[in-house]
Amino acid sequence: MDAAHVDDDLVEVLFTEKQIHDRLGELAADIERDYDGKDLLIVGVLRGAVMVMADLARALGRHVEMDWMAVSSYGSGTKSSGVVRILKDLDTDISGRHVLIVDEVIDTGLTLSWLTSNLNSRNPASVEICTLLRKPEAQQMPVQARYVGWDIGEEFVVGYGLDYRENYRNLRDIGTLAPHVYS
Ligand code: PRP
Repeated sequence: MDAAHVDDDLVEVLFTEKQIHDRLGELAADIERDYDGKDLLIVGVLRGAVMVMADLARALGRHVEMDWMAVSSYGSGTKSSGVVRILKDLDTDISGRHVLIVDEVIDTGLTLSWLTSNLNSRNPASVEICTLLRKPEAQQMPVQARYVGWDIGEEFVVGYGLDYRENYRNLRDIGTLAPHVYS
C-alpha cells in the first residue's frame, strides 16, 4: 500500500520506502562490522518488526539466524498499558549466542527494557537492540539501543509494520497519523 492510498489519514510522510531501505543498509553495514567473525541470531518482535526483519536480514551480506518473539504491551489504542507478557517465546536456545533484538519502534521503552532483561537471564553471549525508530521524549524506561534508524518526536506514526488498530502495517512508507483517525 502506498501513502497515496491513505492520503487523507496522514499528516505527512516521515520516511519514504527508499529512505527506510537506505538507512537499513547503513545499519546492516554497522552490524556486519560489529559482529564480524561471530555467529548472530536476530530476534524479531512480532508483529510490527516483520518488515524491518525482512529487509534488515536481506541487507546483511552474511549468514544470520532468525527467530521471533511475540509480546504484548499495548491494548488496541495508542497508549501503553504498562503490561508485558510473552505470547510466543523463542524456538532457539540462546545460551552462549549473540542476540540482536530487532524492533520497529521504542516508545516508552517498557517492552524492550523488559525483553532485554528477560533474554539476558538466559545466559547469552550478548544481547543488543536494533530499532528503526526511537521516541526519546516518550521513553520512561532506560533502554540502550545499539542501532537506531531515526529518533522522532511523540507523534503517532504508522506504516512499515507500525499499526493503528492493526491497519497501516502494509503501508510502504512511515507517516504521521492524522488525529481525526484516532480521536
Ligand atoms: C510496539 C513495538 C514495540 C513496542 C514499543 O509493539 O513493536 O515492541 O510497541 O513500545 P514501548 O517502548 O512503549 O514498549 P506493539 O505492542 O504495538 O505490538 P505490535 O508489534 O504487534 O504492533
